[in-house]
Amino acid sequence: MRRSFVRALVRPLVLAAAATALPLLSMSPTSPTSSTTGALSALSPASAAPAGSVVIGSFPIDVSESPWTVALSSRDRFGGTRAGQFCGGVVIGRTTVLTAAHCMGEDVLGTSAKSVRDLKVISNRTDLLSNRGQEIPVRAVRVNPDYDSSSNAEDFALLTLAVSLPQSSVIEMAASGDPAYKPGTSAMVSGWGDLTGGGDYAHSLRATRLHVLSDARCQEAYPGGAEGVYVARSMLCAGEAGGGHDACQGDSGGPLVAKGKLIGLVSWGSGCGRAGSPGVYTRVSEVVRARHLDAWAGGPRGTGGGA
Ligand code: ARG
Repeated sequence: MRRSFVRALVRPLVLAAAATALPLLSMSPTSPTSSTTGALSALSPASAAPAGSVVIGSFPIDVSESPWTVALSSRDRFGGTRAGQFCGGVVIGRTTVLTAAHCMGEDVLGTSAKSVRDLKVISNRTDLLSNRGQEIPVRAVRVNPDYDSSSNAEDFALLTLAVSLPQSSVIEMAASGDPAYKPGTSAMVSGWGDLTGGGDYAHSLRATRLHVLSDARCQEAYPGGAEGVYVARSMLCAGEAGGGHDACQGDSGGPLVAKGKLIGLVSWGSGCGRAGSPGVYTRVSEVVRARHLDAWAGGPRGTGGGA
């Protein structure tokens, strides 16, 4: 039951990504497509938002202002129109990109991550329609073994890149207790996701400013049931009291940055930009904690947050 809730949140992304990639494909729930057959029958009200609610808050940025923001791409799965973009990611080490675990799940990819042969990270490209920047193959995917797809708790995965990025692209992760997590702190989220909540995908990078909200705000908004459940230990609440400034489908895995440090990854929410339904982000201090636990760290990795 809970599982179908998370699917409802994630699938509209696949649906819209497929529709964007294949413009001839209508949004009709009966249209067939190979990788997203299930998704097409799951156009959920969770994807709907008052038209313009996200666009009001977002503005175009150049990737040089946020060089750690990368696009995850698979043209095989999502078509080439927007360079195969389907999620965001964040450069946390010269060969390490952090993203949401759910971006590597079958609900998004339509298959297992390891069978996606052309999985790439696109860095330094503001406009997905250009060929600027670099497309780097992903050499390894490690999904957090504690990720719970039914609640979306602990929603993070690490990608190892085949080629190193410059140190200037790397952002530091905020450890637990960092003042950047304090409610009221101003933060910025960026990505190539849906601009309106209606499947209107950006091709050029955008950002919006919002604030870290108290756990109580998200616990109230998401007490469980149809809207999902907010788990303060691994999730972070952010948005604006009146709504309007939010991430949306397609932004998942992308960075929420405050005081120059990474504090969150776009994870989930009810609709986009709705008043009373803040965005829920993966709490990055959990990633810092998990990376210090050898059990999960196995394999080549950097030494600590900025590596
Ligand atoms: N699950 C979405 C994705 O896969 C992200 C949704 C974020 N929603 C929000 N209202 N902040 O792209």
